[in-house]
Amino acid sequence: MSWLRASAYAKVNLMLEVAGRQATGFHELISVMQTVSLADDLVLEPAEQLTLACDVPALGGPDNLVLRAARLVGRGGAFRLLKRIPMAAGLGGGSSDAAAALRLLNAVYQLGLTAAELLAAAATLGSDVPFFLLGGTALAEGRGERLTPLPPLGEQWLVLLNPGVPLSTGHVFGALAPAEQRDGSMTRQYVTSLLEAAASARAPSSAPAQDVPSRPVGLHRPQSDMARRLPLPPLVNSLEAPAERLEPRIGLARQALVAAGAQNVLLSGSGPTLFALTADESSAQALAASVDGTAEHFVSAATSLLLRD
Ligand code: C5P
Repeated sequence: MSWLRASAYAKVNLMLEVAGRQATGFHELISVMQTVSLADDLVLEPAEQLTLACDVPALGGPDNLVLRAARLVGRGGAFRLLKRIPMAAGLGGGSSDAAAALRLLNAVYQLGLTAAELLAAAATLGSDVPFFLLGGTALAEGRGERLTPLPPLGEQWLVLLNPGVPLSTGHVFGALAPAEQRDGSMTRQYVTSLLEAAASARAPSSAPAQDVPSRPVGLHRPQSDMARRLPLPPLVNSLEAPAERLEPRIGLARQALVAAGAQNVLLSGSGPTLFALTADESSAQALAASVDGTAEHFVSAATSLLLRD
C-alpha cells in the first residue's frame, strides 16, 4: 500500500458537565461532543523509520500523539502533519491527529485492528482520542472514552474564537470547585431532545411538511434540516468558570463575540477556544469577519458541524 491521507477534524463540546472525580484522579464527564469542519491533514507513507514532519516545528517532537500512536502499534512510517486546528485550544486537535494516525496505520499496514481494538488503543493515548475514531455527534461519559453515537445534529454553523493564550487541561480541571460539579441532567435532557427530534424526522406523517430546498449533499454535510427544528441547546460547560478564572482573556474574547452580535457562546472543552452557534452560514461568516482582528492572536473560523463518515 502506498501513502494515505486523512482529515483530522476538530470538535466542540455542545454540553460538558463534570459530575465528580474518579479514584484514578480523572474526572467523570457527561458531554455531547461534535466534530466540526476545521481539520488538520495527516499523511502516512510506509517507511521503516518513524518520522514526523509538521508545519509547526515545535510539534515534531517525540511526544507528539501521532508518534505515540505509531509506537503503540509498533510500526514505523513517514508522517506529514499540516496543522490548521489551534493547539491546546479545547478543540481536540492533538487527539484528533492521534485518532487519524491510528486509522492510517491500520489501513496502510493492513493491521486488521477491529473497531474495539482501535478504541482501546485510542483510550490509552488520551481521554478524547476514542471520540475522534467515531466522529459526528456522540455522548461521551466516564473519562470521555465511553461513547454512545447520537443522531446527527443537522447542519449547524458556528464561529470558533481562540484567544491564543495557553491553558492546560489539567489546570482547568484542577481549578474546578466542588460546587461547580453537576449531575449531568442537562446533558441527558439535551440527548433526549436530540433523540426525539431524530424520531420525529423519521416519521414525516407526524411532522408538518417542510419546504426544504434541494441541494447536493456532500460527504460531510448533513442532509436533514433537523437543526432548524431543534431548539438551540441549553449550552452548559462546567469547565467554563474555572477556565475563565485562570485566564481572564477568555472573558474578553466572549465580550468581543457578544459585541459582534453572538448569542449562544460557550467554551469548548477546557478552552480557551469559545464557539458561538449561528443561524446559518452567512451569519457565521459575518460574525467571524466582525470579530477577526479585534485582538491580537485571535484565531477565528466559521465551520459547520459534520456527519460521521
Ligand atoms: O486524557 P488527557 O491527556 O487528555 O487529559 C489531560 C488532563 O486533563 C489529565 O491529566 C487530567 O488532569 C485532566 N482530565 C481529567 N478528567 C478527564 C479528562 C482529563 O481530570 N475526564
